[in-house]
Amino acid sequence: MFMDITWQDPATGALGYVVIDTLVRGTASGGLRMRKGCTLDEVRGLAQGMTRKEAIHLREGRAYVPVGGAKGGIDFDPRAPGAKDVLERFLVAVNPIMHSYWALGEDLGVRQDDIDEILDRRGLGSGLTAVDKLLDDPAAASARVERSFTTVVDGIAQDELVGGLGVATSVIAALEAAGREPGESTAVIQGFGSMGGATARYLAEAGLRIVGIADADGFVSNPDGLDVEALLATRDSFGGIDRAALRAEDCDGNRDDWLAVDADVLVPAAVSYAITPENCDAIRASLIVEAANMPVFPAAEEALLARGVTVIPDFLANSATNAWWWWVTFGDVDGSWDDSRTIVTETLRELTTEVLATARDQGISPRAAAQTKVDANLAALNGGDR
Ligand SMILES: NC(=O)c1ccc[n+]([C@@H]2O[C@H](COP(=O)([O-])OP(=O)(O)OC[C@H]3O[C@@H](n4cnc5c(N)ncnc54)[C@H](O)[C@@H]3O)[C@@H](O)[C@H]2O)c1
Repeated sequence: MFMDITWQDPATGALGYVVIDTLVRGTASGGLRMRKGCTLDEVRGLAQGMTRKEAIHLREGRAYVPVGGAKGGIDFDPRAPGAKDVLERFLVAVNPIMHSYWALGEDLGVRQDDIDEILDRRGLGSGLTAVDKLLDDPAAASARVERSFTTVVDGIAQDELVGGLGVATSVIAALEAAGREPGESTAVIQGFGSMGGATARYLAEAGLRIVGIADADGFVSNPDGLDVEALLATRDSFGGIDRAALRAEDCDGNRDDWLAVDADVLVPAAVSYAITPENCDAIRASLIVEAANMPVFPAAEEALLARGVTVIPDFLANSATNAWWWWVTFGDVDGSWDDSRTIVTETLRELTTEVLATARDQGISPRAAAQTKVDANLAALNGGDR
């Protein structure tokens, strides 16, 4: 690890953390989350994940060459009064680290709009200031980023779609690798925010039946399939579903009911540590694709693998948001939706297919196969300058 810092909010006493796991090309990338109960250990694990999420995208011919991994976290309820003020004090305090090393974007409980508004109002640069030193033409990069962040696709901002599009692509590639028809498969998603919402949209578009979606307030389900677009249209800014939009045939139950539903695919897209050794026996799905960071405990994954359940790791499946920022910034795409959609789906399909083939050929887990690729790529990047 390169560095970690702990910050204490002078007004509320809340703690916040920045961890830089690796510096590659003098830079590290990773989002900022806000969650009551967030710990330094959690942020360390997430920063390690970012190192992997960066390195897995090393690819010949791309303008974007991976950087290192970092993460930030604030132990505060994002729905509590004053949450945005806590975010502002944190961003002001850690701004020198952002200028030197840390490029950041939104993560759980934090909105990109809030980050941008605060940094702009306080004259503190942007979330991407740390990469300015790596860019040949920062003005052209800014123009692409501006375009990409003002593009809205069927009512949802593009930057809130690319991550879930990548997850959905990974689900479809994994189903196909297992000889399953996406159009005859069912899925349950935990979380209906940026990741869960977009995953639901693109799985439904590919023909999967979405039979359940959990949010912080409960579990909405229907074995015949939910109307994902109708639910998306009523979503609040925290990824909450408006129960008034449910049809008579839809059910609303306990939020923990999502795990044991009879479905082919589970997509944990809300919190870390959702699938534990205690609850994993209840899972009936044969494919779990990690949209959230660290949603499956290692011991639970071992038990699931032993039962023949495939788990696609977070640092592959949910890597598209991070990679997309860089594809736009470094110029692999022009910032339009067409370009973005193409690069996300092509890349995530290829990575998922390759990793599953390695796992099958070598008799190892998809996570171990993906880690092999990360290790080889980090070696090619000279291991970074840790
Ligand atoms: N946003 C991204 O681009 C991105 C990229 C990679 C990974 N991730 C990870 O994906 C996860 C979700 O991020 P997001 O940006 O979509 O968050 P978000 O804040 O936009 O949405 C979170 C969703 O989870 C729901 N939720 C919260 N607690 C829950 C619980 N206990 N049970 C069921 N639902 C619950 C909320 O109601 C909401 O629908 C996080 O682990 C995050 O680290 C996000």
